[in-house]
Amino acid sequence: MNRRAQFLEVLGIATEWVPRERNDAPAEAVPATATAPVAQAPAAATAAPLAPVAAVIADVAEPVSARVKPLARAPAAPSLVPAVPEPGSAQADREAAIATMDWPALDAAVAGCTACGLCQTRTQTVFGVGDRQAEWMLVGEAPGENEDLQGEPFVGQAGKLLDNMLGALGLARGRNVFIANVLKCRPPGNRNPEPEEVAQCEPFLRRQIALVRPRVIVVLGRFAAQTLLRTTTPIGKLRGTVHAYEGIPVVVTYHPAYLLRTLTDKARAWEDLCLAREVHDRAGAGA
Ligand code: URA
Repeated sequence: MNRRAQFLEVLGIATEWVPRERNDAPAEAVPATATAPVAQAPAAATAAPLAPVAAVIADVAEPVSARVKPLARAPAAPSLVPAVPEPGSAQADREAAIATMDWPALDAAVAGCTACGLCQTRTQTVFGVGDRQAEWMLVGEAPGENEDLQGEPFVGQAGKLLDNMLGALGLARGRNVFIANVLKCRPPGNRNPEPEEVAQCEPFLRRQIALVRPRVIVVLGRFAAQTLLRTTTPIGKLRGTVHAYEGIPVVVTYHPAYLLRTLTDKARAWEDLCLAREVHDRAGAGA
């Protein structure tokens, strides 16, 4: 089974969805999320791994470069978004120190972090896993129960789906991908992260991203997307556009745990990963 077919099977999409013909609708009426189930993909189109990426997103109205929205560093702050610390404050000093750490120092800082109350309930911190020179970075929300026990992100059911999604893209955990969460400690009972926890933890993620310097960041789920992009825009509206975090292209998609429950959005996740693949390839071509 080729990767495309494998991916669709993993996502539980029985009938393959392919884009409308360009002429079916005016370009501006076809958002990145809009595809129509018109036919099985022809055999030739499924032969090469990920060759259909361009075809799948061919009906996107604008080229990727035109859809890149520069990220304003500190736009309107939603409730989740930490305030910029006062210059000279302890928090500003802490963030400045984290921003200069190398991998071993960052590893140690996360492992020993007591900056918020989550340190009292965690089993262990979950730093992140993978290739530290990866071209791809995936960012989730926070460790759950399994991750807290094993010290690795996305090891539960959602992680299995994530691994399969990576496989369909020709990637694997630890090979050209680094996976991290916004929070490095589990919120008890998997409750939503608190703004103060995000404020304390996001500098670690920012430093991880700066050290990896991936070509593309795929953000998994509403929480991580809104945190990284400093917005309250719903995830459905953040998808299909290329955003940026610290100058690195960001593609937003649904959280794998959500996809396990929501059949109807699985095809959209495929589109998102196709978009991310195109962004990745373009970034490589321009490198
Ligand atoms: N959900 C996340 O967002 N991250 C994990 O590591 C596990 C589940």
